[in-house]
Amino acid sequence: MSNRMWGGRFSSGPDAIMEEINASIGFDHRLYRQDIAGSIAHAQMLAETGILTQADRDAIIAGLEQVRGEIESQTFTFSRALEDIHMNVESRLKDLIGDAAGRLHTARSRNDQVATDFRLYVRDAIDTIVAQLKTLQLAFVDRAEAEAATIMPGFTHLQSAQPVTFGHHLLAYVEMLGRDVGRFEDARKRLNESPLGSAALAGTSFPIDREMTATAMGFDRPTANSLDAVSDRDFVLETLAAASICAVHLSRFAEELVIWSSAQFGFIRLSDKFSTGSSIMPQKRNPDAAELVRAKIGRILGALTSLLVVMKGLPLAYSKDMQEDKEVSFDALDSLSLSLAAMTGMLGDLTVNRDKMHAAAASGFSTATDIADWLVREANIPFRDAHHITGQVVALAEKKGCGLDGLTIEDFKTVDERIDSRIHKVLSVENSVKSRKSYGGTAPDNVLAQVARWRQILGTAE
Ligand code: ARG
Repeated sequence: MSNRMWGGRFSSGPDAIMEEINASIGFDHRLYRQDIAGSIAHAQMLAETGILTQADRDAIIAGLEQVRGEIESQTFTFSRALEDIHMNVESRLKDLIGDAAGRLHTARSRNDQVATDFRLYVRDAIDTIVAQLKTLQLAFVDRAEAEAATIMPGFTHLQSAQPVTFGHHLLAYVEMLGRDVGRFEDARKRLNESPLGSAALAGTSFPIDREMTATAMGFDRPTANSLDAVSDRDFVLETLAAASICAVHLSRFAEELVIWSSAQFGFIRLSDKFSTGSSIMPQKRNPDAAELVRAKIGRILGALTSLLVVMKGLPLAYSKDMQEDKEVSFDALDSLSLSLAAMTGMLGDLTVNRDKMHAAAASGFSTATDIADWLVREANIPFRDAHHITGQVVALAEKKGCGLDGLTIEDFKTVDERIDSRIHKVLSVENSVKSRKSYGGTAPDNVLAQVARWRQILGTAE
């Protein structure tokens, strides 16, 4: 039997393999809400402009609402022979209301329909992700406030560099996630135009009102070029690019959680809720959730790459290649959303071992820069020379097998006469972080000021 929706000129139905490669209902059923919302807006507009009778409109809308109910209560039977969500919905509508269903597709095509549905879907996904990002930012801000004065080693090359406050480290992620929010919001602005009414590719001869459908679906305006509207997918590419960058940020923090929760570091302990055991080694607590968040960037960036390659070189306007846009995008957006939830959970639940962090911060001659800065400030020595002198101080401490604060003033004087007892004040990690008050620096007071700033931005200031 040929296809009931488009089979007029066909004498036979498709080969089984054709059906398998062609059908998208296996995944695009997820667009049902957007598809039905778009169809209701379209039917309303067709009646308003006199293209459809009021009676047909009412029957169509009631039927569509029933279809939505059937899908939501899982009594709807999806058919692969009907290819996709659009034809599944319309075919069921015909069963329910008869011939009036056939008038719904006036002045539209599946090409503008799918572009509309997918934009609505991606817009919803952006809204969810932005809300989740803000929740995660807040979890970071809460932690940063609690750990504003907690001292940890700051690293470069994963080697102890200078002491920093843990609160400052956490706020670095609040900044990254804030830019992620900006990227998603930016993508949403460009996405928010309605393709509906572009029809197959050229627009339509019917006197439709595209402003009306755009407004009904919460779009800012209709798209201005019908060819562009049905053949463009940059709205999802841009969203996947934002998702990839965000996933990179999450993977970096995930990696830090993995490192910090190791026995060797012991800076933090992830809660039982976000750890797993080993089936053979009873002592193990594995940070699986963090590892999986670290890994999700693989599929998210994979989706972006995959869709960029699909779109590359496609002539205008619609080609079936573009049906490949959905599965990878659904998977990527789901993965990001799950990662954000997992990260929020892990961060809220972890415990901090301040003593371990402090001990690690004090090791590795981490206040050497403070000595060099003191020489510049108090003895008026050029920084390059101060750096060299401090290098000799470090070598001496290494030779004596002590930390910088284990050196006596006589020890210092053997390196350079100009050093006096005031040097001892700059050797503690507490004084080191406290002194870094430059804007954006790690001092506890700065952390608290930034916490307040972020609470204002995130709308939770008391
Ligand atoms: N399932 C199709 C897709 O996802 C819908 C559009 C089909 N259009 C067409 N002319 N065959 O792209």
